[in-house]
Amino acid sequence: MRSLWNKLVDLVKWKKPDNIPHHVAVIMDGNGRWAISRGFARTEGHRMGVKSLRQLVEAAGEIGIKYLSVYAFSTENWARPQEEVDFLMELLKEAMDEYLPELIENNVRVKVIGRKEGLDQSILDSFHNAETETARNDGLYLNIAFNYGGRAELVDAVSSIVRKVMAGEITPEDIDEDLLSQHLYLQDQPPPDLLIRTGGEYRISNFLLWHIAYTELYVTKIQWPEFGRRELCQAVDAYSRRKRRFGQI
Ligand code: IPE
Ligand code: IPE
Ligand code: MG
Repeated sequence: MRSLWNKLVDLVKWKKPDNIPHHVAVIMDGNGRWAISRGFARTEGHRMGVKSLRQLVEAAGEIGIKYLSVYAFSTENWARPQEEVDFLMELLKEAMDEYLPELIENNVRVKVIGRKEGLDQSILDSFHNAETETARNDGLYLNIAFNYGGRAELVDAVSSIVRKVMAGEITPEDIDEDLLSQHLYLQDQPPPDLLIRTGGEYRISNFLLWHIAYTELYVTKIQWPEFGRRELCQAVDAYSRRKRRFGQI
């Protein structure tokens, strides 16, 4: 019997390829609420969330998504209780080390975006290792936003541009949207076509502020630990029926 997943993949694939988003961004929210509503500690939700992420990476590749950007830890998440912050740091490091062979095998290219300040050397080493080990892969581009803030990213871009101007490498007249984009973490990657937020909140929470100017937004009440292939297909299917106008008529 064909699974619902297969039917959905066909549905998505046989539409015009343009209707598949090239770049999907995901705000993976709702881990804590998922856990609490089941009588577990919040950390259990994060643990399950890693499994959802692993599935998402696999499913995104199968559907033909080229770039996947996931929000794993924001610059504001430091304000959580220390135990939860420590748990998230350790969890991501362990997940990265554990799934690296699978990512290499699946031709996934990993890039970690965000500020390095405040992160332990061991986690930086894990990220660096994942990036170098997958640098030659050209399948799915997986961007992991960790200690990421959209405002911090813009501040970093502005300060590196100002330093170049002061060094005489560029002039103020050289500054345009392309130049600014080149100084952001994703550099020449295209902006997201679709932004999915799980957990039901209608907000951006400082994710990819510059890049989502014309991104299609999709919010689902499903909490991140319950987001699977089926939900991804539903989001992509919803996207494929949107009419993007980019300010035109
Ligand atoms: C998202 O789930 C994961 C991170 C922010 C790291 P939350 O931990 O925000 O879960 P809720 O939103 O409190 O349910
Ligand atoms: C956004 O979720 C950050 C991540 C998913 C990593 P938050 O739970 O931190 O966002 P708010 O607090 O609901 O805005
Ligand atoms: Mg949340």
